[in-house]
Amino acid sequence: MAIIYNESAKTITLQTKNTTYQMKIGNLDYLLHLYYGSSVPDIDMSYQIKQYDRGFSGNPYESRNARTFSLDAQPQEFSTQQQGDFRTTSIEVVNSDGSYSYHGKTAGYKITSGKYQLDTLPCVFARDTDTVSSLEVTLCDGASDVQVVLLYSVFEEADIITRAVKVVNRGTGSIQLKKIMSVCLDFLNGSGFDLVSLPGRYGQERQVERQPMTHHIHNIGSVRGSSSHQQNPFVILCDREATEDHGRCYGFSLMYSGNFLTEVELDQYDQLRLVMGIGPKQFVYQLAPGETFEGPEVVMAFSEHGLTGLSHLYHDFYRTNLCRSKFVSEVERPVLINSWEAAFMDFDDVKLVKIAKAAKNMGVDLLVMDDGWFGKRDDDNSGLGDWYVNKDKIRCGLHKLVEQINALDMKFGIWFEPEMVSEDSDLYRAHPEWAMQIPGRHAVRSRNQIALDMSRREVQDYVIEKVNGILDDANIYYVKWDINRSLADIWSNALPAEKQGEVYHRYVLGLYRVMDEIILTHPDILFEGCSGGGGRYDPAMLHYYPQYWVSDNNHPIDRLKLHYGTSFVYPTCTMGAHISDSGKFVSLETKAVVAMCGTFGYELDATHLSKEEQEICKEQSDRFRKYQHITFKGDFYRLTDPFKVGNMTAWQHVTKDKDESLLSVVVTNLTCNGPQEYIRAKGLDPGAMYSINGSKETYSGAALMSAGLPIDREVPEYSAFQFHLVRERCTV
Ligand code: DGJ
Repeated sequence: MAIIYNESAKTITLQTKNTTYQMKIGNLDYLLHLYYGSSVPDIDMSYQIKQYDRGFSGNPYESRNARTFSLDAQPQEFSTQQQGDFRTTSIEVVNSDGSYSYHGKTAGYKITSGKYQLDTLPCVFARDTDTVSSLEVTLCDGASDVQVVLLYSVFEEADIITRAVKVVNRGTGSIQLKKIMSVCLDFLNGSGFDLVSLPGRYGQERQVERQPMTHHIHNIGSVRGSSSHQQNPFVILCDREATEDHGRCYGFSLMYSGNFLTEVELDQYDQLRLVMGIGPKQFVYQLAPGETFEGPEVVMAFSEHGLTGLSHLYHDFYRTNLCRSKFVSEVERPVLINSWEAAFMDFDDVKLVKIAKAAKNMGVDLLVMDDGWFGKRDDDNSGLGDWYVNKDKIRCGLHKLVEQINALDMKFGIWFEPEMVSEDSDLYRAHPEWAMQIPGRHAVRSRNQIALDMSRREVQDYVIEKVNGILDDANIYYVKWDINRSLADIWSNALPAEKQGEVYHRYVLGLYRVMDEIILTHPDILFEGCSGGGGRYDPAMLHYYPQYWVSDNNHPIDRLKLHYGTSFVYPTCTMGAHISDSGKFVSLETKAVVAMCGTFGYELDATHLSKEEQEICKEQSDRFRKYQHITFKGDFYRLTDPFKVGNMTAWQHVTKDKDESLLSVVVTNLTCNGPQEYIRAKGLDPGAMYSINGSKETYSGAALMSAGLPIDREVPEYSAFQFHLVRERCTV
């Protein structure tokens, strides 16, 4: 068992293959955090804690005159409220008597084999081949009888520990939960950490920022109702000296798609605390006696092998333990063509069939009919919510259209934006009360659409019925599920005034129910998530969708940064990437090399391509299929940082057995008469010899990694290279 309780030391130790995590039921039954990092044997790590009389830092009443025990200086497993710890809290609760206080003390623990489950929220899962055990530690506040249950699962081989939290009101009156964090991690020696996060904006999601921790609370989160373009629910804490290959790195990835918060506080004693969970903006959750609240899961990983080591842990784990879709591992992803940048909403059935026919010559497997096929939808001012086929555009009907595409030996995909309604729609006219808007006020406009109140059961049922109706009516292979605004006007007509503080979270819960009912009931359909590009790219969404649209920005040079940032936590097989007309001065080849760092497809009017261009695309589609086992299943290496000044951006995929690798380079800048550039490979077998792109000559893995590959510099700007390395087998 990877979870050990030591009776005499009162420590609970969680062991994975290469990491150790330890807590202790300490003085006065407070649950202390002792360690997370590289493996250490199961010894009591509390020797690290030194007690001092810390002026102005309170002591629990029960410690009487012993002034050296202050929660303000203790490393805690779950920081609580009004206990003399003035650092950031993990819980804020208003008790039934109106008091703001939570004094959680350890009341029990339970160790079980297998993975814990949450009833209301998506979680990672254990496969039959995984060794997983779980721990539940219960904290109780003696005065209010409110329990906090801390949940842990340990994935031994994967070096992953997950955490989640439950709050159980066992008292006699209702309480209000105002903040509940799923994870709290205290570091006794917190100096010298950097925080890496993935901020962005529409069209530029998941850019990378790294900042040294200073003495204040760093707050990273979203208040937009979704995990957002602007921040991602993922952060890394790493040694200031950490590089791609060296140094300690801790990752925290939150399985939640709504408002979230990460706070990192470097305190007065250079201790560091990180908390992460649901964002507390307008969050007031009522818990009646007997009720339980669940907080989302955080997937934690630690690597002492730098940022790449950490990314590999997440890539491997998210490829196998996050999404059960058969498209994750059993079925190859299709090369698709999407109608959006080809036609926007200006299409009909005839035009779509023409695009499909041209795309067939390009080796494309799947035509996706994007926005514009339903209700009254000639622009984005109307029609959302009316999920029936627009007969003026799809004159032959959906069934016949799909048949025509299938007759080309191609598959058919369709777009939905199920969470939204247009004021100019039949749905809104019939049910204005289903739209999220505050009575007596006008709703905030955003792309002229309003969010449906997904917290309402009847709204969820409507969406399930309509979307399932379409999916069951025709031979649909793929669905793109979009959402194109941030939430505002948070209000539900179905809830009383005192429960309006629950709407943000209930929206997310309603969405997960709808996705359970639509996505999990259609295991043969490939789902791709989208939010005006990559605005809700989070692990909870990837629990449902094997792939997610990275960004509406298809410019291949911007994409270098987009893919680079996304790769810190999400594997290549999740990254929706297409070739479009964007990037006028960039060749089709460079666009293809960039899009192969993703799920690959086209987003242009194929009928406008010449025969030669279609043939080029055909070769690219075949190449993507040929390399898919390397890019989707291999280890990913960031060879250069596109945010730093340099002339090339390079990355590499290497199969697990190191037999094959795809090394990709884009020349982003050409200096006149500049020096020869070399790209050093990673992850190869140093003792093996590799051929490159089928060449007769072979090169040793050691040389390719130490001396590097010279990159031809006498090339046009924005040229790209793709080096397919294959291990030479000795033939006797
Ligand atoms: C935003 C998406 O990111 C685009 O790809 C496209 O589907 C549009 N929405 C359609 O409205």
